[in-house]
Amino acid sequence: MTSVIVAIDGSAASGKGTLAKKIAAHFDFAYLDSGSLYRAIGVSVLRKGGDPTNESQAVAAAKTLDIAQFTPEDLRTEAAGVAASQVAAIPSVRAAILQFQRDFAHTPPQGKRGAVLDGRDIGTVVCPDAAAKIFVSASLEVRVGRRIKELRGKGEAVIEARVRADLEARDARDSSRAVAPMKPAEDAWQIDTSALDPDQVFDLSKIFVADKIAKAAV
Ligand code: DC
Repeated sequence: MTSVIVAIDGSAASGKGTLAKKIAAHFDFAYLDSGSLYRAIGVSVLRKGGDPTNESQAVAAAKTLDIAQFTPEDLRTEAAGVAASQVAAIPSVRAAILQFQRDFAHTPPQGKRGAVLDGRDIGTVVCPDAAAKIFVSASLEVRVGRRIKELRGKGEAVIEARVRADLEARDARDSSRAVAPMKPAEDAWQIDTSALDPDQVFDLSKIFVADKIAKAAV
């Protein structure tokens, strides 16, 4: 049976991860947070005292990636996000983990009948054949506020200007890189979550995805 693929892309702190988890749980699909792969690669380089912008160090980390060596706390720091965005700008790093993501989408674990992947290039590069594509955005101000709340909730010391500068730098790097830049697929449904809470985003998206799944099944 062909796997039903849902691609959810968008900017940092746009709410795409929260939405992707809810969609996966609702449809009982497998879930892959592709950003966590880039975060793990970035953190492995940092753990070795290396430089995430160094191609050979980053590719070596990508080729030997063992995601089990990282806790969610290791990966969700602001430093991990910045390092992730740096390694993600290197084409050979992206190439090293492309097939893993495609295999997950097309043959989801535990025999699930579908997969939800979130990231920056899922609808454009990793799974251009996805049944449903969503592109999630939110204003910079709203995203800064969300990220500060998330980091404070985990007890991280937060400087607002620093969080804003990091998000702006990541947006610029993620959308201007030569390979697989962050951008909506032509056939993506776009949702701005600035004025919506997570349940509202989920309710609207669920209708869109259910419709696409029904059409894919015909
Ligand atoms: O979604 P996130 O914030 O966890 O992603 C961390 C970084 O990884 C992000 O700044 C860009 C990169 N990334 C990417 O280039 N492509 C993806 N499919 C997912 C993440």
